Amino acid sequence: MTSTSVRRNKATGLVVLLAGLVITGVGYAAVTSTAEASVAMYSQTQIDQGKQLFQQGCATCHGLAAQGSSEGPSLIGVGAAAVNFQVATGRMPMAQPANQAPRKVPVYNDDQIAALAAYVASLGPGPAVPSDEDLNTTDANLAEGGVLFRTNCAQCHNFAGHGGALSNGKYAPSLMNATPRQMYEAMLTGPQNMPVFNDKTLPPAEKRAILKYINELQTAPSPGGLALGSLGPVTEGIFIWTAGLGALLAVAVWIGAKVR
Ligand code: HEC
Ligand code: HEC
Repeated sequence: MTSTSVRRNKATGLVVLLAGLVITGVGYAAVTSTAEASVAMYSQTQIDQGKQLFQQGCATCHGLAAQGSSEGPSLIGVGAAAVNFQVATGRMPMAQPANQAPRKVPVYNDDQIAALAAYVASLGPGPAVPSDEDLNTTDANLAEGGVLFRTNCAQCHNFAGHGGALSNGKYAPSLMNATPRQMYEAMLTGPQNMPVFNDKTLPPAEKRAILKYINELQTAPSPGGLALGSLGPVTEGIFIWTAGLGALLAVAVWIGAKVR
């Protein structure tokens, strides 16, 4: 072997090694980041429009480049799903700094929300807005959804999804007004005190089972009679205490009056 062919062999080896690394890297990125692919769903025009809307309506609290300020957290990497959730439920733009942003009538229309989501998604990878396929509950298991709901959600949102108080004046809202997309996004992004349920803790099929169950809660009539707000033992207890004991007292007084 001459010295040039040795050098050429070494060079080929290096090229093969580099090619191998590049292929592994690209393959790995393609497998792991479905979220990054979501940026490609948006056009540059949408991103530009979103940036403009953001600077007018959100930057006072979140910073001109969404880097965060003392009034609001950084939005880099929160993803399109978080923006869609927050703005479509009317939580954002927040009217003034408060303990918790309440659900209200949204300020922006669907196109504007998509533009805002596009802009934030362009700043860093994060969960994408769930697709119609993600939300298709035709094959979802309702009974499994009930079990998953009771183990993962009921401790905050109440077993009937009517919401409940948390510590420090915060609350888990009622789920009666949430759309399937908002439910899925809430699980993906964990707003405020809610934990994130990523696809490892709660795979998409289980999320869909939960959507189906909440939908059942939203539409179910109350076969047991008066639901009393479905708040559980407290309201039921108060009801029995006032109405039940009241009736017993009335009877006692009536009997007492008769005896005299
Ligand atoms: C008055 C200040 C204020 C304004 C204006 C405001 N935000 Fe917020 N935003 C907050 C605060 C504070 C939080 C965190 C507390 C919370 O979630 O309740 C937050 C949270 C968020 C989150 C959740 C971040 C996460 O980690 O999941 C998103 C997304 C968001 N804002 C987007 C927006 C967008 C988009 C706008 C403009 C349309 C906007 N905000 C306007 C104060 C504001
Ligand atoms: C530790 C308590 C906690 C748990 C557990 C929890 N959440 Fe939440 N959830 C919250 C809080 C707090 C909010 C309100 C966040 C805000 O106001 O920014 C919320 C908001 C929501 C909303 C938005 C409702 C609306 O109408 O805007 C949905 C939907 C939701 N949660 C679904 C779920 C589901 C499904 C689960 C179970 C997989 C779950 N949550 C588990 C605390 C919790």
